[in-house]
Amino acid sequence: MKMRKSLLLLAGIVAFSLVLESCKPDEPVDPIVQGPTAFVLNIPGNWPKPNILPENPLTVEGVALGKKLFYDKMLSGNGTQACADCHHQSDGFTDLGKQFSVGSKGDIGTKNSMPLFNLNWASGYFWNGRQPTLESLIKEPMEAHIEMNLKIEDAVAKLKADPDYPNLFDKAFPNQGISELTLRYAMAQFLRTILSGNTAWDKAFQASPANPTRDMTPAQARGYFAFIDENKGDCFHCHSPLNPFFGNSNEREFANNGLDAMPDSGFFVATGNMNDFGKFKTPSLRNLAFTAPYMHDGRFATLMDVLNHYDSGITYSPTIDPVIIKHMDANDNFKPVPRMTQQDKEDIIEFLMMLTDSTLITNPAFSKP
Ligand code: HEC
Ligand code: HEC
Repeated sequence: MKMRKSLLLLAGIVAFSLVLESCKPDEPVDPIVQGPTAFVLNIPGNWPKPNILPENPLTVEGVALGKKLFYDKMLSGNGTQACADCHHQSDGFTDLGKQFSVGSKGDIGTKNSMPLFNLNWASGYFWNGRQPTLESLIKEPMEAHIEMNLKIEDAVAKLKADPDYPNLFDKAFPNQGISELTLRYAMAQFLRTILSGNTAWDKAFQASPANPTRDMTPAQARGYFAFIDENKGDCFHCHSPLNPFFGNSNEREFANNGLDAMPDSGFFVATGNMNDFGKFKTPSLRNLAFTAPYMHDGRFATLMDVLNHYDSGITYSPTIDPVIIKHMDANDNFKPVPRMTQQDKEDIIEFLMMLTDSTLITNPAFSKP
């Protein structure tokens, strides 16, 4: 009896030490169990936590696959167009100064291509916010007849028949392979890594948050003060310098900035709320040096055109923002009351140029693989 007990004890110790043995950190781990490697996002500055979907965590393999897909013309009906053909890195991921993009079959769209960076913090995508996530958005440009014109199930079939993609999908999404879901997930992962925060403004703000104009040129400093002055630019309620993206992630993420008397439906499409009619995404003011023309329909070729709009071109419509309407004369049919001198406008542009991140357009991490 005693003997059996001590034998059992011995067996227990041996089994325990075997378990310990197999947990040694330098033990090679079975590659099938290991799975893809977590991707570490280097968030610039003190920015808030990114909204990454828990079901689609970033991995090195997923991001690399997403990048290959982003640049692959195979994902269009006639093999002539990739995402990157309307979102060029050299142009802040917009479309080479074009007002409207041209689709794979030569059709011309109705919206200005959007810049792609700092996409992790938006609550809606596209100019009218109709897509809630990057993962859900991908299907639209791929399938649209006036864009890439390829049904996503046909894209999946093409990828399955390719010599390289099956292996790359297996690595990024073990045991899942190529599907509509993993295709969307991989692309979204790459988009989420395109970050831009390396600018003269960020350096000035980090060096002296209470007085960011300390090391600015006189024109940049005047421009900054005009930008935040309610009697001059009055830009900051919507494009807040305290929001790292210079777009607003709170109640003015979508706004009506007085472009048209009869606006396009805009954000109403996403919410079904009449108060959102004619509202569009408040874009980031980062990298404007690369992303002309401006606004959802690319109507303004230059930043001076944009400043002239806010000064003397604003037009009344029912959902116009209170911050815009306050610069109009209610007693005179909502005529705009100009408030900026030519010098103010030039200074604001000088300040906006501080938001240029030239590493965005050269960083090999975002370039064609
Ligand atoms: C034919 C040109 C064209 C192609 C090809 C294209 N896009 Fe776009 N992209 C646009 C336009 C135009 C918009 C704005 C559309 C709108 O608001 O209705 C846009 C908007 C976006 C946005 C929204 C950004 C934001 O801040 O809300 C993302 C993300 C995007 N595209 C990613 C992609 C991806 C990924 C692909 C490839 C699957 C792709 N695009 C292919 C022209 C294109
Ligand atoms: C009421 C909110 C609001 C105010 C105030 C405001 N903007 Fe905007 N801004 C927007 C919205 C919304 C858009 C996009 C509108 C559209 O395309 O339909 C926009 C677009 C822009 C664009 C075009 C960016 C691009 O990528 O196309 C620039 C540049 C800009 N604003 C600069 C300014 C400046 C400078 C000021 C101050 C003089 C200012 N904004 C004041 C909301 C605002």
